[in-house]
Amino acid sequence: MTLIIAIDGPAASGKGTLARRIAAHFGLAWLDTGLLYRAVARDVLANGGDLDDVIAAAEAARVIEAQSLDDPGLRGPKAGDAASIVAKFPEVRAALLDYQRAFAAQEAGAVLDGRDIGTVVCPNARVKVFVTASDEARAQRRFLEHLGRGEAVSYDDLLADIRRRDARDSGRSAAPMLAAADALHLDTTHLDADQAFEAIMQLIAARVAGN
Ligand code: DC
Repeated sequence: MTLIIAIDGPAASGKGTLARRIAAHFGLAWLDTGLLYRAVARDVLANGGDLDDVIAAAEAARVIEAQSLDDPGLRGPKAGDAASIVAKFPEVRAALLDYQRAFAAQEAGAVLDGRDIGTVVCPNARVKVFVTASDEARAQRRFLEHLGRGEAVSYDDLLADIRRRDARDSGRSAAPMLAAADALHLDTTHLDADQAFEAIMQLIAARVAGN
């Protein structure tokens, strides 16, 4: 039976790592949909455009190519912040919808993570999980990632970045970040990566067994 798993949640909640591990566990393909929005922002800027220009952003979204998502330049909070600006445009979201739905339509199913997977992209997903963590825990995770790479950064700046991005992603009118009514909830504030994976696998097993 086809297994589509939708994982939504805010930045640094742990949803990406969880989605990757879940996909590996079930032998499913995984799409990090944030990369699509990050790539649109990258391409707008590379063309000399403005992130607030809806026409430029929608055009970049229409011509996005899968191989261009494999770009280390798309990682990091700056690219994430730029992505969140173009993601507010309904025209950009509409242009990226077919790509995401085609990905989810693979015979075995797929794992997709983002902000609107359970609500808009795959409302019929068999399993939906909304992953959260406190603002402080998420900022602390980002802080440790930067330290690990030897980059000097302020915890307070990271916390402010996370809050600004959450506000933008939840406050927009087009497909805001939102838990689907039938989503399972996982708070990873006090969990390390292995504990969070164990917890989400239990939720998924219960949901799949109950279906
Ligand atoms: O998951 P991420 O941090 O890579 O996402 C970057 C931005 O892209 C996020 O702040 C909002 C936008 N996004 C979105 O609007 N919808 C999605 N399904 C995924 C990401």
